[in-house]
Amino acid sequence: MIKGKLDEIVSEVKEYAPNLNNRADFDVYKSTISGPKGKLTEIMKLMGSVPKEEKPEMGKAINLAKQSIQDTFSKVIKSIEENELLGQLGSSIDPTLPSPELEKGHLHPISQVRDTIVGLFSRIGFAVAEGTELETEYYCFDALNIPADHPARDMQDSYFMPKTSSVSNVAKKSDERYLLRTHTSSVQIRTLLEEKPPIRIVAPGRCFRRDTPDATHSANFHQIEGLYVDRKVTLTDLKATLDHFVREIFGVSAKTRLRPSFFPFTEPSFEMDFYSPDLGKLSNQWIEIMGCGMVDPKVFESVGLDSDIYSGFAFGIGIERIAMILQGVDDIRNYYQNDIRFLRQFPDSIA
Ligand code: DAH
Repeated sequence: MIKGKLDEIVSEVKEYAPNLNNRADFDVYKSTISGPKGKLTEIMKLMGSVPKEEKPEMGKAINLAKQSIQDTFSKVIKSIEENELLGQLGSSIDPTLPSPELEKGHLHPISQVRDTIVGLFSRIGFAVAEGTELETEYYCFDALNIPADHPARDMQDSYFMPKTSSVSNVAKKSDERYLLRTHTSSVQIRTLLEEKPPIRIVAPGRCFRRDTPDATHSANFHQIEGLYVDRKVTLTDLKATLDHFVREIFGVSAKTRLRPSFFPFTEPSFEMDFYSPDLGKLSNQWIEIMGCGMVDPKVFESVGLDSDIYSGFAFGIGIERIAMILQGVDDIRNYYQNDIRFLRQFPDSIA
């Protein structure tokens, strides 16, 4: 008897409740079922007179019925609430309402350092030049006086394309191979072939090498190349320009030194080291910061400039290296992992 009644109530609720379309009606109806005098409550009161052995079964039936009724009520109230919301918003979406506040992004820490360096050089008259990431051996090596047996030309050191590949917007000089550029020095040649001195450029960009990634090596990294060619450019100009750069980046008290080195495209060639008392932990050591030198006459020859008339200096800065020093990052791989928790540590003043 009880079970039959329960079934009746359940099916009544299922049939009737979904027709309710406002909260007041819903509340009234709900109390006729589960309120103190509701139908379900009345039935539960009958439990007291159920013989002991039937109690477990009755209890179970009542619970099932309660659950089913509860489910129906939840669905109905949800739909009533949705309707209320729509009523408040009007029948269509209003596109003139202010949008939710969007989270602002910012430049990648490497881009920030790139922009700082480029900005610094542009204030002293250097224009920005661009080359291509996919290069030919000619621009990347031959024209820079890098001989055919140089290790950089080894398949193990660079990413070469198959000889048969052709790329319509990067012209080959002859039968050489394409490769992903191993340095931005190729932009020196592209610029020297296109423009007449005086030339003052910085060329920021991505480079590639077949390095096994570790804390200080990445197969993909960034450099800024610099080139200044004119009549009577001297080593003093190189030193003064790069000193200015180092002091702007690492503080006015920074000191630099040039150590003799070798690059096929500069003669003489140097590594520039700096040291800065403003660098906390790093303040008591010389830190290698870039390669540089006076443009080799062989380079002028490859681009058809007379080295008796023109001279120049060039330099190549690794952006990650500077970024790691400035930002206190001890593993280069952090820059490429796209971990938002890392990137958010370097908010950018421009964004
Ligand atoms: N291209 C060199 C490298 O990737 C860096 C470099 C050294 C660039 C000396 C220069 C330079 O312009 O003069 O290792």
